[in-house]
Amino acid sequence: MTQNWSPNSWRTKPAKQLPSYDDEAALKAVENELNAMPPLVFAGEARNLQENLGKVAKGEAFLLQGGDCAESFQEFSANKIRDTFRVLLQMAVVLTYSGSLPVIKVGRVAGQFAKPRSSDTETRGDVTLPSYRGDNINSIEFSEDARKPDPQRLIRSYHQASSTLNLLRAFAKGGYADLNRVHGWNLDFVADSPLKDRYEALASAIDDALRFMAACGVTSETVPAIRQTDFFTSHEALHLNYEQAMTREDSLTGDWYDTSAHLLWIGARTHQEDHAQIEFVRGIKNPLGLKCSPTLEPDELMRLIDVLNPEDIPGRLTLIARMGADQVEDKLAPLVRKVKEEGRSVVWSCDPMHGNTFTSDSGFKTRRFENILKEVQGFFAVHRAEGTHPGGVHFEMTGEDVTECVGGAKEVLDEDLSSRYHTACDPRLNANQALELAFLIGDELKGLRSNQDMQPIEAAAAE
Ligand code: PEP
Ligand code: CO
Repeated sequence: MTQNWSPNSWRTKPAKQLPSYDDEAALKAVENELNAMPPLVFAGEARNLQENLGKVAKGEAFLLQGGDCAESFQEFSANKIRDTFRVLLQMAVVLTYSGSLPVIKVGRVAGQFAKPRSSDTETRGDVTLPSYRGDNINSIEFSEDARKPDPQRLIRSYHQASSTLNLLRAFAKGGYADLNRVHGWNLDFVADSPLKDRYEALASAIDDALRFMAACGVTSETVPAIRQTDFFTSHEALHLNYEQAMTREDSLTGDWYDTSAHLLWIGARTHQEDHAQIEFVRGIKNPLGLKCSPTLEPDELMRLIDVLNPEDIPGRLTLIARMGADQVEDKLAPLVRKVKEEGRSVVWSCDPMHGNTFTSDSGFKTRRFENILKEVQGFFAVHRAEGTHPGGVHFEMTGEDVTECVGGAKEVLDEDLSSRYHTACDPRLNANQALELAFLIGDELKGLRSNQDMQPIEAAAAE
């Protein structure tokens, strides 16, 4: 049992980025209500994800984590959930095929509502109001009433997370994810996509492999792994009143699990060792993520690793580097080197989104596809140089044909941003851009595989 920890011990620590509610009693009532609700995920599932991530830490698998920057009440629909799930499946298939590695699929979904903000207030003209902090806290609409934190929104987001997860479980286990449907996933995909042919060729190669396996007696009837997949959920561990209310003691092990998602991560703004968010997550047994920004020093990272994974359990901790395309090689390499020197087991993942945000000439917050790609390539280069495993990627994406990030093969221009800019927070890759990126990462993974294939030969030659 983690020392001096309880689900509410975070309340004795300073906390950043938490909303302040006018009515404490109303908040308390909501916390009690949530505490009595059924868990969204089970401890055994979180353990299963941690085991899978343990394989990533050992270089035997790859992590694909993606979804909205912020889920919203307005953008909530079955089609949207399906489309995001489908693009993640397509990306995973591309990566599995290229890397010959199992791909662990984790959505930023079914609970990714609360947002850290760089400023507590937003000013328009001569009006200053509290910042929008995510649909589970206040409304994006710019009015005094809308921006007031309302605890009832936590209940609504719980129910939205619950029905989102219900549909995701059905898609993952109910036949939609069957590898025999790889072509089908492309059917409703943007028909004029420049990637269509490349994806179709890959889908045909998978079909050939499945036909061969079927002839050998391996089919989706005999091997469940062909017809279903594991899909996990994650979000930022930010809103601690909600996270505490969703935390339950596992009857099997006596350990505490935050049952709001399988994996929780600590954002770049809330990783202070003596603050509330770190205090809360250190005591829950879910696998954890930690965003690593360019200001994080190697010694500070080591102290955080000691707090978050004192027993050095493979898969417990995923370090999500978000350095920016220009800084990734300089800033990531010292961290990777230090963790390796200290012999600590972590998953290294690359978030190429959050270090590459800027405001376009047309006034939209956006990201350039080429910078996103460049950061991913820099991430792979660092791991190649350090001899460590580039364990995964972390994206903000959606299955819709939005225009939020500029660039890509089916190019989104600055002047297109206004046409379908729907995000409640940061700009996301659209379906085409996400798939294009998967092909480019697949090429990196292919390179990794051929390097590994070379190693025994080199080792043999050296003997
Ligand atoms: C996010 O992942 O949406 C986010 C806010 O990231 P970061 O904490 O890395 O800035
Ligand atoms: Co974001």
